[in-house]
Amino acid sequence: MERKWWHSSVIYQIYPRSFQDSNGDGIGDLRGIISRLDYLEKLGIDAIWLSPVYKSPNDDNGYDISDYQDIMDEFGTIEDMDELIVEASKRSIKIIMDLVVNHTSDEHKWFIEAKKGKDNAYRDYYIWRDPVDGDVPNGLRSTFSGSAWEYDEASGQYYLHLFSKKQPDLNFENEEVRKEIYDMMNFWLDKGIGGFRMDVIDLIGKVPDQEITGNGPKLHEYLQEMNRKTFGNRDVLTVGETWGATPEIAKLYSDPKRNELSMVFQFEHIGLDEQAGKEKWDLQALSIGRLKEVLSKWQTSLGNEGWNSLFWNNHDLPRIVSRWGNDEEYRTESAKMFGILLHLMKGTPYIYQGEEIGMTNYPINDISEVEDIESINMYHERLEKGYSKENIIESINAKGRDNARTPMQWDDSENGGFTTGLPWLHVNPNYQKINVKQSLEDPNSIFYTYQRLIQLRKENPIVVWGDFELVDNTPEEVFAYYRRYEGETWLVIANISEHSSHFSHLDVEPAEVIISNYQRNNARLKDIELQPYEALVVRM
Ligand code: GLC
Ligand code: CA
Repeated sequence: MERKWWHSSVIYQIYPRSFQDSNGDGIGDLRGIISRLDYLEKLGIDAIWLSPVYKSPNDDNGYDISDYQDIMDEFGTIEDMDELIVEASKRSIKIIMDLVVNHTSDEHKWFIEAKKGKDNAYRDYYIWRDPVDGDVPNGLRSTFSGSAWEYDEASGQYYLHLFSKKQPDLNFENEEVRKEIYDMMNFWLDKGIGGFRMDVIDLIGKVPDQEITGNGPKLHEYLQEMNRKTFGNRDVLTVGETWGATPEIAKLYSDPKRNELSMVFQFEHIGLDEQAGKEKWDLQALSIGRLKEVLSKWQTSLGNEGWNSLFWNNHDLPRIVSRWGNDEEYRTESAKMFGILLHLMKGTPYIYQGEEIGMTNYPINDISEVEDIESINMYHERLEKGYSKENIIESINAKGRDNARTPMQWDDSENGGFTTGLPWLHVNPNYQKINVKQSLEDPNSIFYTYQRLIQLRKENPIVVWGDFELVDNTPEEVFAYYRRYEGETWLVIANISEHSSHFSHLDVEPAEVIISNYQRNNARLKDIELQPYEALVVRM
């Protein structure tokens, strides 16, 4: 496989609204991000994935774009954006833009035109259908509850929106649409960005009349065309958000010979605490056995025909330390354990803002505290279906997207140093204890574990290129694997439980510990008693 910069990189995701406010309006912004670049340089990351900063009425916090070539008023100006790219590049940090092209905002000029009537030149940029028996065209559902079809009085037709009704789906069948998108992508590439994270890209090949949404027949054809017309000859990272990807599908996207994307985000591990065939809100206990199976399957099945992305967190998911770790007694230990377990795998790791200091979920008591459209719509839908309020709030606390969207906790001053004004979303009250300032002062903080993990990847090709092999016959809660490269072997051992456990190995020689979350200098592998959430990496 040809070696690219992104194979050995670590990416940091910024959710701009919640990262750093610079002008006291309670909303994070581009100047705020610029002011924190030194911090990110210290952490050691190579690129920032910037959640959408384009013009948007914010029905879905920027994932509803009304102008792809301008910046959201609250976030700043296009000049601020240019400055961010330059300032980041001075610190060897690239900017990965979030490309949201499955849909636009209903306030995008294309949709405003399209709504003017069936003859409008932009009508076919979107997906319109006549009513069937005086009702919606078919049973397609929106991810944000309800039908995916919205009626337009003026023309008597419905338009498709797989997300909110303010996010009408673009029609990729239309060549003009694709051309406009490629021009827009080139506009950003010409500014010197480092690539794109592609929002719900698996949906662009949809065939609405057959109720096919993900993995449609023309999906890969479109991506190959996009690659040819935009980033194909540039040295950039592209990562597709693909909820329905299996390893076989992931290879279609990321096999270098196919000229599509660098890698995809797959979500199989993320769904393991959900009941099969139901909604994400229908919880079940996580099976660590399944987690090991799923992650090791992904580690071994792509081979040279694809590349993994590695993540526990993003702006759509609860904080892993709260969900699968223990965010009270063992917050530090479990946060470090998840970091070590992930960053020693093969693939490109993504860190979501605040993960590196062990930020936690923010429990709500009432729907009035929620900002996220997905949770709000689900709340009303389930209330109507007869679910109890308590039950719905419990689901939101477990899986709601606001959990990870609370403002970044910088220090112990009011609002965690995020803003001097009124924050757009509640700051987690634990900011006095959990914040960047404290993390930087404590040599044993989660921050320094992440910093070291990033360094390890830079200094040791085995971390980037080594083969992965799961160690079987460990206790259920122990996830252990080897990495092997050019005669060298590393062993990663993690106890995913709040109880002590055991690990034993034939080797009797003490092994050198490369990194751990309890203070261990060397380890007798023959029989290790693992502490709660202990993780260690040894050189064999
Ligand atoms: C992706 C984004 C999510 C957004 C949705 C619609 O899943 O990550 O935040 O709501 O797409 O754009
Ligand atoms: Ca601001």
